[in-house]
Amino acid sequence: MTNSNKTATLIVNGETYELPMYTPTAGPDVIDIRKLYAQAGVFTYDPGFTSTAACDSTITFIDGEKGELLHRGYPIDQLAGKSHYLEVCYLLLYGELPTVDQLEDFEHRVTHHTMVHEQMMNFFRGFRRDAHPMAIITGVIGAMSAFYHDSLDITDEWQREVASIRMIAKMPTIVAMAFKYTVGQPFVYPRNDLDYASNFLRMCFSVPCEEYEVNPILSRAMDRIFTLHADHEQNASTSTVRLASSSGANPFACIAAGVACLWGPAHGGANQACLEMLREIGTVDRIPEFIARAKDRDDPFRLMGFGHRVYKNTDPRATVLKQSADEVLELLGVEDNELLKVAKALEKVALNDPYFIEKKLFPNVDFYSGIILEAMGFPTSMFTPIFALSRTVGWISQWKEMIADPQLKIGRPRQLYHGETNRDYTDIETR
Ligand code: SDX
Repeated sequence: MTNSNKTATLIVNGETYELPMYTPTAGPDVIDIRKLYAQAGVFTYDPGFTSTAACDSTITFIDGEKGELLHRGYPIDQLAGKSHYLEVCYLLLYGELPTVDQLEDFEHRVTHHTMVHEQMMNFFRGFRRDAHPMAIITGVIGAMSAFYHDSLDITDEWQREVASIRMIAKMPTIVAMAFKYTVGQPFVYPRNDLDYASNFLRMCFSVPCEEYEVNPILSRAMDRIFTLHADHEQNASTSTVRLASSSGANPFACIAAGVACLWGPAHGGANQACLEMLREIGTVDRIPEFIARAKDRDDPFRLMGFGHRVYKNTDPRATVLKQSADEVLELLGVEDNELLKVAKALEKVALNDPYFIEKKLFPNVDFYSGIILEAMGFPTSMFTPIFALSRTVGWISQWKEMIADPQLKIGRPRQLYHGETNRDYTDIETR
């Protein structure tokens, strides 16, 4: 963070306190309240972290008003258009775009870590076949700390590097295995002659009975979905990974915690929830009924795939994904997909409705990703696992940044307590 000579003056119970302020390279100034409790004996209160910076970082920046997303300073639309997922992984992990040799070495290391320990097959077999793939990958990723003992010591930089490469490399294999397990098909081993996205599609869709040729437009769309979901500042699942890591827990356990948080329908589970909502709407003529429900404060229903905590005009990822959706659906000849018709009509209605305009609700990344994944043949239960696969590099990059921070402290928020104050125990006969 960049120090500034500015301070914030706070008056508490008649006493005046000067709090240091920092001016970041982008975004709003921050007030350093680390000594507030020691000096003024008060806490701040911000349950959803709406106005609280929980850390300092150099990885990703979002300008919610402009609808801008930067990874190490590079705009997401340029990365989605000109780069590819593993190059973006290198950028997020190491801070700079790689040279030809650096990228070749990185891709070689990732490619040669894509297999999982053969014993893990048995771990999958403990699940019911109708288990949600997110339940399976949460368990399997947590279990990785039982298989890879040589990359658990977070104080050892080399072990942190190995754990990072292993997580990025093995996530597609684990997610594809979860898919195969739930559809009752045999696991497919990764292939070292395929690129990252093609390898994933083949592990998901190939069967032993015939050769599987990866369609380059689908693998490009898959790679773009990975890139667009790679990292996103201190969202709920990344904050979960950071908090879990602050206790010194091993990286696999921390990533498993991030996967569990991402599963929620308000976060990464929104792509599955959005497709299920589009199916429930069913036809364009039923859209007004659901818009009315979304506007009804007494109805907990929310328009899944709309709105965002930070973006207040447009989610730049949705803009790029919308182009991919058109390409994929045209390729697959499903541009007349009923779901897509409902999605496009819903988007148009919502964007012109005063309620949504006033609340600044618009399609987010999950609105279009679900449509593309559905068209590619994935069941809705696989949407969030694919989001988790994509976001692994973001979680790992943020984890590495935090662990390397000499100021690292265990995260331990305080609270606004308004429960019972001290009182004596009473015997049951007297209650
Ligand atoms: C992701 O943080 C990230 O970066 C997340 C993410 C990432 O890459 O990691 O971008 C991925 O999680 C995208 C968001 C996916 N979630 C959904 O699509 C679920 C639907 N969206 C909502 O749940 C909601 O918009 C949130 C959770 C995304 C954001 O909620 P906020 O910012 O906490 O806002 P809020 O819930 O306080 O809502 C503000 C107002 C409320 O109305 P009032 O109480 O002021 O009258 O807007 C309304 C809400 O009722 N509102 C919606 C709505 N979202 C907010 N009303 C109808 N439909 C919606 N989708």
